[in-house]
Amino acid sequence: MTTTTHKRVPIPKNGVDYRGKIVLAPMVRSGECPSRLLALHYGADLVWGPETIDKSLIGTTRRVNSVTNTIDFTRFSSNGSKNAAIAANQRESLIYRLHPAREGKQLIYQIGTANPTTAVEAAKLIAGDVAGIDVNAGCPKPFSTSGGMGAALLKTPELLCSILRALVAEVGTPFEIGISVKIRLLNDPADTEKLVRSLCETGITGLTIHCRTTPMRPREPAIRAQLRMIANICREAGVACLMNGDVASRADAEALMAEYGVDGAMIATAAETNPSVFRALADGGMAPWEEAVHRYIRTALDVHNRWGNTKYLLGQMIPGKQPAYKTMSRSKSYSELIQSLKNEPAFQRAANCDFSDEMVELARDLDRELEIGAFEVPKMSKAEKKRAAKESAQTESKTLPPAGTKRTADQASLDDHHNATEKRKSDVSVDVASGTVAEQASTITV
Ligand SMILES: Cc1cc2nc3c(=O)[nH]c(=O)nc-3n(C[C@H](O)[C@H](O)[C@H](O)COP(=O)(O)O)c2cc1C
Repeated sequence: MTTTTHKRVPIPKNGVDYRGKIVLAPMVRSGECPSRLLALHYGADLVWGPETIDKSLIGTTRRVNSVTNTIDFTRFSSNGSKNAAIAANQRESLIYRLHPAREGKQLIYQIGTANPTTAVEAAKLIAGDVAGIDVNAGCPKPFSTSGGMGAALLKTPELLCSILRALVAEVGTPFEIGISVKIRLLNDPADTEKLVRSLCETGITGLTIHCRTTPMRPREPAIRAQLRMIANICREAGVACLMNGDVASRADAEALMAEYGVDGAMIATAAETNPSVFRALADGGMAPWEEAVHRYIRTALDVHNRWGNTKYLLGQMIPGKQPAYKTMSRSKSYSELIQSLKNEPAFQRAANCDFSDEMVELARDLDRELEIGAFEVPKMSKAEKKRAAKESAQTESKTLPPAGTKRTADQASLDDHHNATEKRKSDVSVDVASGTVAEQASTITV
C-alpha cells in the first residue's frame, strides 16, 4: 500500500495551522473584540479581526488597558490634536482592541493595504500580539478598491505577491507568525488557477477563497465549481486552504470540507447573526438567540465596547420581529438596554438569561465612562471649539519669548526634556510592538 505525504509549508512557532479549523470571518463592524470573544466561547477555532487599513494603524500608540485587560491601539485624530484646549476635549480614537489572554493565540489580524512598505510598517506594530497577518484581497467596496486595496489587488497580482513576500520576509519570519491571504474567485477558472499558483509561491501559510466573484452580491449563492481545483493547488504547494461563502454552521462546514477536500472553513454572516453556529452538535449546537444576545451584552460590558457598535451588533442578532428588537433600538445606554430587556418576556422565559445586579452595576459604570445615557455631557459646538482654540493660542503667545529672543538655560533644558520625553514615547510604541504579550506589563497602561 502506498501512502501519499503532502508537502506542508512550515507553521512558524507563534503562528497557527489553518488545517481542520472552522473560523470567524473578518467583518468590519461585526468583528470587533466582543464578537470575536463570543465566537471563541462558542467554539470557533480561530477568529479574524475586521480589516484595518495599514495607514490607520501606523502612528497609533499601543497601550495595555489594565481595566479591560485588552491591548488598545489608539490615536488622536489629526484634526486639532496639537492644540491643548481642543485635545482636552477630544477623545482618543480606538483603532484596534484585542484581548491577549482570551484571543491572542487565535487571532488573525487582517490588513488592508496596497503597498509592501506600509503593509510591513503597520504589521510590525501588531505582529507580537497576534497569531497571524492576513491580507484582504477580496473586499469589493469602493473605499477599499479605490485605493488599490481589497479586490483591486486581484487585478494587480504582481503587487499582491510583492506585498505577501515582503510580509513573509520582514514580519512573518522575525515574529515567527504566518502570513495569509483572502481572495475571491475570478470569472475564468484558468485565471483563478494562475493567481492561486503564484500566491502559493510567496511563502504564505494559508489562503481563504471566498466562493464569489467580485461583482457578486452577498445574497447570491456561493459558487463551488472552482473549489476543488483551488484546494488541490494549495495542497500541492503545502498551503492550508479555507473555504468561505454560505457556510451555515460547524456541521455544514464539516460536510463541505469533506465534499470539496478543503482544509477548513470560514463563516461570516451566519456567525454575525448567531455566533453559536460554531458549537458542535454534540455540545448542544446552536444556542437560542436570547442566550447569544445575553452573553454578547455581558462580553461587551467586559471589554467596554463602544455603545454604537454594541447596538449595531444587537441589531443583527435580535430577530427584527421580536418586541426586544424595538426595545433595544430605543435604548440610549447600556443601563437602559439591560433594564428594558429584563422586562421582555422572551428573556424572562429563556434559561441562563438573568440580567444580574452585577451586570446592572457594570452597565452603569460603563455608561459613566462612555458618557452616555444619564451621563451624557453636552458636546462642544464648532464655534465653542474655535473659541477655545483661539484662547489657547493667545495664552501660548503670551508665555512664549518674543521671536528672536535667545532661550535661557532653563528654557533650553525644559525644551530638551520635552523632546526627550516625546522621543521616549515614540520609542516605547516601537519597542513594545516588537515584544511578546508577556513582556509588556511595563508599557503604557490606561
Ligand atoms: C458586515 C460584514 C463585514 C465584512 N468585512 C470584511 C472584511 O473586513 N474583510 C474581508 O475580507 N471580508 C469582509 N466581509 C466579507 C466576509 O468576510 C465573507 O467573505 C462574506 O460575507 C462571505 O461569507 P458568508 O457567506 O459566510 O457571509 C464582510 C462581510 C460582512 C457581512
